[in-house]
Amino acid sequence: MNIATEAVQIGLEWDTRTGAVTVPIYQTATFRHPGLGQSTGYDYSRSGNPTRQALESGIARLDGAARGFAYSSGMAAIANLLLLFKSGDHLIVTEDLYGGTCRLFDKVFGQFGLSFSYVDTSDTIAVAAAIQPSTKAVFVETLTNPLLKFADLPAIAALCKSNNLLLIADNTFLTPYLLRPLDLGADIAVYSATKYLAGHNDTVAGVVTVKDPQLAETVYFHQNSVGAVLGPQDAWLTTRGIKTLGIRMDRQQENAVRIARWLAAHPRITRVYYPGLANHPDHALMKRDSRGFGAMIAFEVDKHELVEQILLKTKLISFAESLGGVESLITFPEVQTHADIPPDLRARLGINDVLLRLSVGIEDCDDLIEDLRQAIEP
Ligand SMILES: Cc1ncc(COP(=O)(O)O)c(C=O)c1O
Repeated sequence: MNIATEAVQIGLEWDTRTGAVTVPIYQTATFRHPGLGQSTGYDYSRSGNPTRQALESGIARLDGAARGFAYSSGMAAIANLLLLFKSGDHLIVTEDLYGGTCRLFDKVFGQFGLSFSYVDTSDTIAVAAAIQPSTKAVFVETLTNPLLKFADLPAIAALCKSNNLLLIADNTFLTPYLLRPLDLGADIAVYSATKYLAGHNDTVAGVVTVKDPQLAETVYFHQNSVGAVLGPQDAWLTTRGIKTLGIRMDRQQENAVRIARWLAAHPRITRVYYPGLANHPDHALMKRDSRGFGAMIAFEVDKHELVEQILLKTKLISFAESLGGVESLITFPEVQTHADIPPDLRARLGINDVLLRLSVGIEDCDDLIEDLRQAIEP
């Protein structure tokens, strides 16, 4: 079945008693036991809640996983995955990484004896060179935030397999609709479901999918032990959002391609990062492995003063953090989303004072282009 169809089906058959076509919101903390030593299958909502489970089993199906898990945010999901490691373990991580993930790794889990090497994971040779005797995993963003580099997952997966490393893929920017990391050899996929999965800038959520049932059991043990689970209302919103994933992604990508071309031709835009453009270094690789290029664009303007002008003058496109929703958003990574990346690394990567990141929404594309035009050429 096509993923777009599979996505619409999520939660559809959950309520066999009434036949409700959407999963009910089970707003309950606990469940009555039918008798001593008996359970309905649900005991307490941290351990399992039917609304959350509809989302968890749905996302597992979309990703071809053994099981899925839903958390209170993308960061909570990533933090739970780090519980698979112990003091002294080392992880290789995408250097062009979401700033919050970098902060969690270095400033939180660094305190507990985990160490991290940041490498360009679009360069598999660099990943291989970073392997140490204590390395236990490679953590990649499939399409990186904010510079949109694409990792060769099958090659990294082969490397991980031969070195007995777990491969964890943050697939937030692509979603299962465009790329299924587990099909390409990853062991675990993780998503900020706040973004394209929920898709409406109205909820904060995280999900994880796991290929191996035994590993999934350990992930479940950690989910239940830590308790950073997604509440039923937010699980319902995320499920509702996923139903339109295919149609939203199609429209957002269509808009992104046109906007990236328009930006590339504009005299005040000096550089455009969008993997759908044929001159992007990972364009061909992405064409091989992904059903699309996503709807995130980063671009550089010719002068820093233009950054503030664009952020203040766009009317349809909101100056706000986050991405992936139906509304277009623009942000300034150096100050907003990537402030926690060490300044020297930021400078080396190209996250500088003329770089903007645009999350393209589902609005009419001509309106979006006109909004950018009047902000750039007032
Ligand atoms: C690629 C990526 N991963 C993880 C996160 C964290 O997700 P959340 O904000 O839902 O905690 C983000 C947030 O922007 C992100 O862009």
